[in-house]
Order: sequence, then structure tokens, then C-alpha cells
Amino acid sequence: MAVVKLVVDGRLVEVAAGATLLDAVRAAGLALPTLCHDDRLTTVASCRTCLVDITGRGPAAACSTLAEDGLRVAVEASRALRRDALRAIVAGLPTRALDVPADRSELARQCAGYGVTAPLGAVTPPERGLDHSHPYVKLDRDLCIACGRCVRACAEIQGTFVLTLTGRGAGTVVAPGTGGPWAESDCVSCGACVDTCPTGALSEPGLLNMLPIERQTRTTCGYCGVGCSLEVSTRDNVIMTVRPAGEGSVNRGHACVKGRFAHGFLGSTDRLTTPLIRRNGTLAPASWEAATGYVAARLAGIRDADPGGFAVISSARATNEENYLAQKFARAVMGTNNVDNCARLCHAPSAAGLAATFGLGGGTNAFDDLDRCDVILLVGANPTAAHPVVGSRIFQRVMDGARLVVVDPRRTFLARHADVHLRPRPGTNVAVFNGLAHVLVREGLVDSAFLETHTNGYDELLGLLEDYPPERVAEISGVPAHDLVRAAVMYGRALVPAIFYGLGVTEHRHGTDGVRTLSNLALLRGAVGPGTGGGVNPLRGQNNVQGASDMGALPDLLPGYQKILDPAARTRCAEAWRADVPSRPGLRIPQMFAAARDGALQALWVIGEDVLATDPDSASVRAALAACPLVICNDLFLSPTAAAADVVFPVAAWLEKNGTFVNFDRRFQRVRAAVAPPAGVRTDFAVLHAVAAGMGADLGCPTPEEAMAECASVAPLFGGITHARLDRDGPLHWPCGSAVSPGTPRLYQDRFATPDGLAHLAARPYLPPGEQCDAAYPYLLVTGRRAEHYNSGSMTRRTDNLVLLTDETIDVGPGDAAALGLHEGDTVRLDSRHGMAVLRLRITDEVEPGQVFAGFHFPGATVNSLTSAVEDEVTGCPEYKVTAVRISAHA
Ligand code: FES
Repeated sequence: MAVVKLVVDGRLVEVAAGATLLDAVRAAGLALPTLCHDDRLTTVASCRTCLVDITGRGPAAACSTLAEDGLRVAVEASRALRRDALRAIVAGLPTRALDVPADRSELARQCAGYGVTAPLGAVTPPERGLDHSHPYVKLDRDLCIACGRCVRACAEIQGTFVLTLTGRGAGTVVAPGTGGPWAESDCVSCGACVDTCPTGALSEPGLLNMLPIERQTRTTCGYCGVGCSLEVSTRDNVIMTVRPAGEGSVNRGHACVKGRFAHGFLGSTDRLTTPLIRRNGTLAPASWEAATGYVAARLAGIRDADPGGFAVISSARATNEENYLAQKFARAVMGTNNVDNCARLCHAPSAAGLAATFGLGGGTNAFDDLDRCDVILLVGANPTAAHPVVGSRIFQRVMDGARLVVVDPRRTFLARHADVHLRPRPGTNVAVFNGLAHVLVREGLVDSAFLETHTNGYDELLGLLEDYPPERVAEISGVPAHDLVRAAVMYGRALVPAIFYGLGVTEHRHGTDGVRTLSNLALLRGAVGPGTGGGVNPLRGQNNVQGASDMGALPDLLPGYQKILDPAARTRCAEAWRADVPSRPGLRIPQMFAAARDGALQALWVIGEDVLATDPDSASVRAALAACPLVICNDLFLSPTAAAADVVFPVAAWLEKNGTFVNFDRRFQRVRAAVAPPAGVRTDFAVLHAVAAGMGADLGCPTPEEAMAECASVAPLFGGITHARLDRDGPLHWPCGSAVSPGTPRLYQDRFATPDGLAHLAARPYLPPGEQCDAAYPYLLVTGRRAEHYNSGSMTRRTDNLVLLTDETIDVGPGDAAALGLHEGDTVRLDSRHGMAVLRLRITDEVEPGQVFAGFHFPGATVNSLTSAVEDEVTGCPEYKVTAVRISAHA
């Protein structure tokens, strides 16, 4: 790499060619004010607070001046230049501009450092007023210096382009959208504008934010699976603000409305703080001793009589250490493998499909590989809503010139910006993926050398693909043949293509086949593992759904994906746990419910899941809970599931506990308690220990740190991961087999992890979905997430996110709405073959004719009473994405 040598305050400095004087000044260990500059944004050089003096040339803005060989730059000697620039800025502001706490105002901080005070007899600038219309963003126009950082952050980081600078000269000020109230703009509330604002003109409402920060804690977000690093500022055990962490984090200083702002639920007045036991049909408060003693006694009886009569649904919201302990409790204390987690309902087909194809059940590449990609194939995912930081980064790549192919029935935000948008009929993915593969082969866009060296199954696949010419795929899926060809050629001709996909691939009757046939494309193109390329990357839904499965909260797999049928793996765990490990695979979640309805399940422990709101065919789930003699529930609130339980344990939230999560690109990250939980609340970790102790068992590993260490000792995949190492070195991608392993951001660089070292192409035919429309149920319902809320909404509905999205809607196309005689905002009734829901109508062109869409964040909307019990034939993952419904005006 070419370097440039120059002298900064007498020190010889080397920087890369193309670096600025600001980079050189920083390399010399010095700092400058940079009020209009943010390293993540394009440079505008408008504030002049970074001026330095170049010998022989005079003053120059360091942020925008390229470093050149032989330059001599004076920093200290040019302080007066910067002080004058700061003075000029302050002169146009009200004196309170310097009263903003220094930890929230770069301007105040720099002025303090440069001895700049509010001018005597200060000019009172025009009163441009406040905008307090938005629950999370407050605009004080009189503090705006028109640096434009917020405008560029909105465009270049978030990709929303909602902010602009309006006015002229000294009257220039930031404005949302067309200049109306902030709350009425298209702002997505990511907070990027607040985070970059150097003056406090943009800030968070609340008096607390006018006080100095007492403590800061780095932790990992507990919403979606992106795993954003967050800096949580607190005072008196109350969260003041949550800001995205920058360098080295998966989120690179960005966050979304949930991670950034939706923490108010912690202090909700209906937070559970006392255990509850059902007595005479009513849940009544009980002491911890009574509740844990009661559960322990009941479970001891089941263990002694019929261990298989117990099952536990562990939590993708809980830490790895809690999941490790939950599966250990089931196996070592209760003597059953009846443990599962909600990966069953989302990405179980990913784990199964990716493992069968490549050898391991995780995404193949690190998210940062996106930066190298020139074509992105985004399938069955709307990351703009479900994984907003990923959505923004993909959009950034597109703005930087990458091509984008979206495969999704809905016209999502990213689909609107795609080069090709394929809109397959829900349930026809496998046909589309086989059709894309057909074109890759037909057009000679396969990597024959890669296929020869690193894969098997090619001949069988070629035979199958003959049946999937684009014209036939068009008949099956509704995707025009020429669009299918365009998409395949674009992916096939890429230098570094990457696949990202979501639940639109997995939540199908043939979800595992979908993952496998999608993975075929990367193999045909040689774009994974030893080949170049961005691989195949599932966007995991919950914060720790990857980790819950990694920890062995699965009925057939021990920690680290060791098969329960493997005697050596069982022995390894049995020795560490000093207990036998049952050899027969346990029940999956749907099988647990079926067993309960059949009277075969005596106790079900649901940890941190609201299965009545989020699992499909909720009438059947309710029947299962009613039939089970003992239902135990850990939750923050009295969710519908908790309300149906016999014992409820009040537990801590992610901001209140310690441990680790694993995000969607296999990254172990530390979770740290930013605040203490309310009095009376315990962690899931402590509850499991207490119940085990009540049964006379010792779960060992008394702290999360020791639980991680024990997990590492039994799971070779995680052998080098410890809390101490994560604290010292930061995140680690698994596999990380030893203390000297740096982790594995990119998998399979030498060989695939299958027994023969080859990736296995899958010749899987298209088979129809479980649900079909007919005259009685003529519309196809797809369910998914909205940006403002999260899953059952139990957290986000207890924050001001509820102001941003007040209720659930059913999204219907304009043509269908007109044909039904329905109007925007009408209350409509949806009936499926399984249940009924009442929702408000939203008319949008995002959905195709004949299809409708709903989120599932409002349990009162009972959307999951509509969905069916049809499930993926390999993993049991529900077919959430295809439900036949009819729509009518609600009486
Ligand atoms: Fe360089 Fe503003 S930071 S001109």
C-alpha cells in the first residue's frame, strides 16, 4: 500500500495514500475539533473548526485536505484559527448552547477545551423554536449550526433521506421531510441524526438527558439477530440513553428504533416482580421459596415416574449460559431430551439445510463480507423492517454500485431499489431456486473446477434441473421467465455474489428444501467456502436464536451440534455433568404440544416465549396448555402464555443480566447488565439453579462465566471461548476451538465440514405448499415483522414505539380492496381454516393481487389463530408464510 510521509508538529507521520490531514493529525496522536465531520459520512468541510496551518500554504481544513509527501503541518501553533472558528459559530447561538452537558455536545466540549465562552452581550438569534412532536427525537432549531451531519447520516447510514437543510444563510436549519412536524415525516427513528449531531440541536426528550451520565455499559442488543453493540448510559440505575457502539462492532455505530430507543419497558408498571402460583384457578402471588419449592416437588415426582413427561421450551431471548443451563437441566436433572427453542419456528430449516449442504448449521460468512460483494441476492427477507441495520448496510452497498436481486412476494423497500425483483407465489421458492440453477447451467455460468473439486451430487442435480426451464417455473411461481433469466445471469456473472435470506425461505412446508436449493446457487457459482464469494447467510430472527441452538437447546443435539445419537458426545457431556445423558432424541415444540393434548406431557416449562401469541394455530396451543397438568412460565410480564400457566417466575430482561449472545453471523458477544433488575426479579439462570437445588440436584457452574467455560469444555466448536477472552479481545466467531484460535469469520476456507469434506448439492423437486387457496379462502396471507415492534410485542408495546405504530393492520392491494368494497382503515374480519382475526385495513401496493400481509406483534389481533399446523417436513418448522384466508367487512 502506497504511503505518504509528512510532518505534523515536528513529528514524522506516515499515512496511506488518499488519507487526509485529519488522518495524519490523528496518527500523530493529536485531535482537532470536527463539528461538520463524521468519519462515516462524506466530507463537506463547512465549519472550519478543523483548520490547521500548512507551512508555505497557510490555513487548510484538515478534514478535506489530502495529505501529501513533505507537507509540514502546524497543529498546536494554529489553535487560534480553530478558536476563531468556534467563536464565530457560538456567536450565532443562544448562550444555552454551551450549557448542554459536554458528554452530549461536541460543541460544548470543544469550546471548553479552546476557552471559548458565550459572547458578552450575546446576540439573541431568531427564535426558531422546538419540535417535540416525535417521541424519541427532539429538535431545538436554535442550536442547529447547519453542519448537515444529520442530513448525511439519514441518507448515507440509514438510507432514508428524510432530512434536509432549509432556509438561507444564518437561517439555515435542519428539517424533516417537507418541513412539517418531525412525527409526520417518514423518519424511521433510528437515531443516527441524534448520534451525530454535534450541538444537541437533535437530542432525546426527557429531563434525564440534561444530567451528566453516571455509568456506561457496553452490551449486545436483545432484539433481533444482528447483535448490535450498544453503549448504555445510566444514572441511579435508570437508563438515560442507549447509543450504538462504533469501531469493531457489527453495527458500525448504527442501530434501529428498537435497540436505540425501546428500553422503556424495563420500568413498566405491570412488570412482574413476584412469583405467581395458580390456586383455585387463579394466579396468586407467592414467595420465591414457595414457587421454586412447589415446582421442584412437582418436577421431582415426574422425573421419578416418567422423565419423558417433562419438556422445556428454552428461549432465544435468553443468554447462551441460560440456554446451556436449561438443556442441562432437562438432560442431567430431569433425564429427558425434551428441550427445544424457537429456532424450531424460524430457522430450524437453516440449521438442517446448511448442515446437510456444507457441514455446519450456521451462515457461511461474516457480515463484513458484504463490503466485498458486487451482487446481492436477497431472498424472503425484509431486513429494512426485521433487521434494520442489515437493511441499511445492504442499501448502502446498492448506493455504492452493487447490484441487487430481491426474491420476495412483497414490494419491500429494498425490492423497490432492486435491479431485478422476483415475486414468486408464496410456497413456490424451490421451483424458483431450481429455475435460477437451470439458467446458471444453461448459460455456462457455473464454476466447473469448483464443482469438480469441492462438491458432489452435480450429476443428479443436472438431471433434476432439466425439469425447471424458466417457462415452467413461470407457470408454477408466477415469476416471468425473462426476469428469472435476468436474475440468474446477474448472480452468475458477479465477481463476488452473496446470498442473504430470511424466514421467507424457511417457514414453509419445504423450508429445508428451500435452504438447500438456494445453497445450490452458491455452489454452482463457486461463491462459498474455498471459492470466492459472499456465501449463504441466514438472517436469524431473534437476538440469540443462533446461540440457543448452539448451546444444545434442541431435542436431538447437544451443545455445539453434537448428535445425541453419538455415544462419544453423550459420554463427554455425562462426565462433565456427572449424570447420564439420555440417548433417545426428545420432542420438538409442536410434538410437545401434541403430547400435552394427548395427555402424555405432565409438565411444560416455557422460558421467555409467548407461545400463545407467536406459535401457529394458537387454538391448538391453548388446548395443549390447558391439557398439561403443570405449565411453568418465565416472563417479564403476564403475557397470554403466562396468564395460562400454573406457575409464573418474574425474570430479568437482557439489559439486566450477564452472559453472551451469538448473532446471525456466529459471533459470540458479551451481554452485560446495565441496570439491576427490579426487586423481586431473578434471572432465568438463577431460577433454573433454584429449582434444580430444590430437587436435590446441583447444576454446577454457579455463574454465567463458569457456565460458558463448562460449555466450552464439552463442545469442541466453542473450546476457545471464554468471558475473559471476549472481554479482552472482543467478539469471536465460532468455530473457535482453542484459546489460540482467532475464531472463524468465514467458514470452509480449506474444505467443507461434511465427513467427506465436500459440499452436497441437493436435487430437490418442487412440491406444493400445505395450504392452498380455494373459493372459500381465496387470498394467501403472509405474516412477518414490522420495524417498530418485535415479535409478540411484549417489550416494544410497553415503549413509545406504540406511538409510532399503534396497532396491527392487514395489508391489502388496492385492486383487491376495491373488489371487496373495503376502504383504508376499515375493520375487517379474516377467516382461515384454523381461526379468525379482526384487523384494520391498510391499502398498499406492497402486496400482490390475491395476497395479503400482517405482522404478529399485537396478541389481541390473534393473527396466529389464522396460521396452520402445516410444518416443514424435515424440521417441523411451521408454514407461517402460506395461509389461505377470506376477507370480509367486520360486522
Ligand atoms: Fe473540517 Fe468542519 S470538520 S471543516
